[in-house]
Amino acid sequence: MSHISVLLHETIDALLANRHTGIYVDATFGRGGHSRLLLSKLDANSHVYAFDKDPQALAVAAELAEQDARFHIIHSSFADVQAQLNARGIEMVDGIMADLGVSSPQLDQAERGFSFMNNGPLDMRMDNSQGPTAREWLLDIEEEQLANIIFKYGEERYSRRIAKAIKQAGEMTTTAQLAEVVKVAHPKWEKNKHAATRTFQAIRIAINKELEDIENFLPQAVNLLKPEGRLAVISFHSLEDRLIKQFIQKESSLAEDNGWGMPQQQQDTRRLKKISRIRASEQEVKENPRSRSAWLRVAERLSN
Ligand SMILES: C[S@@+](CC[C@H](N)C(=O)[O-])C[C@H]1O[C@@H](n2cnc3c(N)ncnc32)[C@H](O)[C@@H]1O
Repeated sequence: MSHISVLLHETIDALLANRHTGIYVDATFGRGGHSRLLLSKLDANSHVYAFDKDPQALAVAAELAEQDARFHIIHSSFADVQAQLNARGIEMVDGIMADLGVSSPQLDQAERGFSFMNNGPLDMRMDNSQGPTAREWLLDIEEEQLANIIFKYGEERYSRRIAKAIKQAGEMTTTAQLAEVVKVAHPKWEKNKHAATRTFQAIRIAINKELEDIENFLPQAVNLLKPEGRLAVISFHSLEDRLIKQFIQKESSLAEDNGWGMPQQQQDTRRLKKISRIRASEQEVKENPRSRSAWLRVAERLSN
């Protein structure tokens, strides 16, 4: 099962900014669409270090590493990007990209348990070699905490009713069971959207610590970038995009006051310069509807 890369050329062109050599990081290998295009544009002295948490993605990456000595794969969350690279003797890199969220194979394979469309075991782990499955996680969590997560990460108004119904249902082993419980509890079905869409998104984000990982990753990425090195991040929903937008905003603006209402000695702490914010073209959205919600944000490391 394949994955169609989103904003493929836009991301690699922005990341390279006409360079053809250096050390680059692909924080989310997936099926390697971005890594492969990147390698094709880099010279023989360059290196690409790719990360993924998913054992299936790693198997594909291992094949690529056999074919191309410039390519290296690391089985780790990108939340540990700096320590992982430092452990390999790399202190600075020329560019870092991330294409967040789940891959199409993760969503499409019923056995990964991400989907309410394809019935499978209630799993939802990107790294299915460790950590609790959605089935285990739902059994352990308190109703109130679950409601808060569904509200925050699913932006679901009916989070309390849904959390109550899930806890009342007791142990569930399949995605279809969970989807049905949520559907029955949901008082208002939206057009063209399964009633469980928001709840599944929320549980997936929580289990995989998706937002925490992004928050940990972004400052480390800036620490690693050489002056003029680029950071390019693709996000697929507003919670992710907000984190990236706010981070780039903070790193690219001057601190204005010291919180005491007194003028402070302006210290220039800016580390980034905003470069661009790009959406998928109409043509791309037509060919790959998944790209509809994608935002690519690009920033460049300043030399201070
Ligand atoms: C949208 S896909 C990437 C697709 C890839 N750019 C391509 O063209 O094939 C996202 C990938 O990132 C991985 N991933 C998500 N969060 C991660 C994290 N915190 N650390 C490492 N990998 C992560 C997922 O397992 C998934 O394979």
